[in-house]
Amino acid sequence: MTTEFDFYGETFQRNPGATFARMISECPIHHSAEHGWYSVFRYEDIARILKDNQNFSARFGPGPAYAQPGSGAGLVSADPPLHGKQKRAIVSAFNATTIAAMEGPIRGFVTTLIDRIIHKGRCDVITDIAIPIPMWVICRMLDLPYERDKAMLREWVEVLAGAVFSKGNDALATERMVKVKALMEYFRPHIENKVAMEKRGEDPGDDLIGLLAKGRVDGERISMMEMLSFAQFLLVAGSGTTTNLIGNFIKLMLAYPEQYQKLRASPGLLDQAIEEVLRYDAPVHGLFRTNNEEIQLGPYVVPKESKICLMWGSANRDPGLFENPETFDITRDLVDLRQNVSFGQGMHKCLGAPLARLECKVFAEEFLRRIPEFEADGPQVRFPYATLNGLDNLPIRFPVSNN
Ligand code: HEM
Repeated sequence: MTTEFDFYGETFQRNPGATFARMISECPIHHSAEHGWYSVFRYEDIARILKDNQNFSARFGPGPAYAQPGSGAGLVSADPPLHGKQKRAIVSAFNATTIAAMEGPIRGFVTTLIDRIIHKGRCDVITDIAIPIPMWVICRMLDLPYERDKAMLREWVEVLAGAVFSKGNDALATERMVKVKALMEYFRPHIENKVAMEKRGEDPGDDLIGLLAKGRVDGERISMMEMLSFAQFLLVAGSGTTTNLIGNFIKLMLAYPEQYQKLRASPGLLDQAIEEVLRYDAPVHGLFRTNNEEIQLGPYVVPKESKICLMWGSANRDPGLFENPETFDITRDLVDLRQNVSFGQGMHKCLGAPLARLECKVFAEEFLRRIPEFEADGPQVRFPYATLNGLDNLPIRFPVSNN
């Protein structure tokens, strides 16, 4: 008898933590007869798969649907040696100096967002703050006009990020195809312009598109198709996920007021608090690999090229990795906490992790300094698509202040 697990069902989507605890102890490897894919819940099994790039491939893409090898999003759908070559093209945009230089501008932007709400005494944390911050940052990195295009970009990101786990034949699939096309057409002139500059011998800049235009893989320019899918992936990877981290931070401070009081009393716990939020509520439930040969996984003989979901959120709740994993505790040791796999692990580990942490830290510093007291102001609404673990609405109210 197999233990029941429905990724798309209300029980899991409403409270993933409870399902992870059950699956870790009762059914650490699950096969869904309905959807055809396997899920891996224990940290040890996930870590083993992530280390084994010979037997487990990313080439069919990060979702349950099979992307055509070569057509999927750059980097995250590439195996060695291509992965290393693609990464070299953009890695400088993520180095420590570049990220550190973004702190001041991010703080300036966060300040303007808080200025807009502080006299109102209420706000929606997601729409007023958690969506704008990462969208503004990724627009800056991709050299896109945030003010002009933010609403349209958010709409695309929501559908595309949410659709990583789309069931394939539902209504979303059609909506998604339309959005992908529109997003590609949006990026095309922007990329063409940077490539033309580069061909004329001008410097197209060190934003991510500029770096792609200058980048070479085996001495060849990166193709237009690859750049388009790369740009699309970067926009999606950089925004919806970080929105969830920021939203989940406030959600958990509301849900665990005694933990929030500890943070207020000891602001030096902020790094741990952010890491504990990442551990306790992984912004992305899980992503996929595909096995190159038939393998044994738990009780299953898994046919070659099956889709296998690595449940990041579950590894973070594994008692083999964290003591009392069901307890939300911001005083856990930071070094231990950094073992959480919300950003993945190994070769594909999130390039944007330091940036996402910085965005959340600057947000928390500014927000909690100016709005230290807040309470729920209505029902929280869950993000409507199955991939991401976060909120769509998080209304709060707070004393009006002049700060
Ligand atoms: C809290 C926020 C974020 C979370 C939870 C997150 C999560 C992840 C995860 C789990 C992976 C691994 C994918 C895999 O192994 O299949 C990943 C990869 C990646 N992420 Fe993030 N991410 C976040 C923010 C960002 C940001 C802000 C950026 C860029 C601006 C970014 C860019 C990337 C890139 C480029 C990769 C691919 C790395 C590779 O394949 O080598 N992410 N992310």
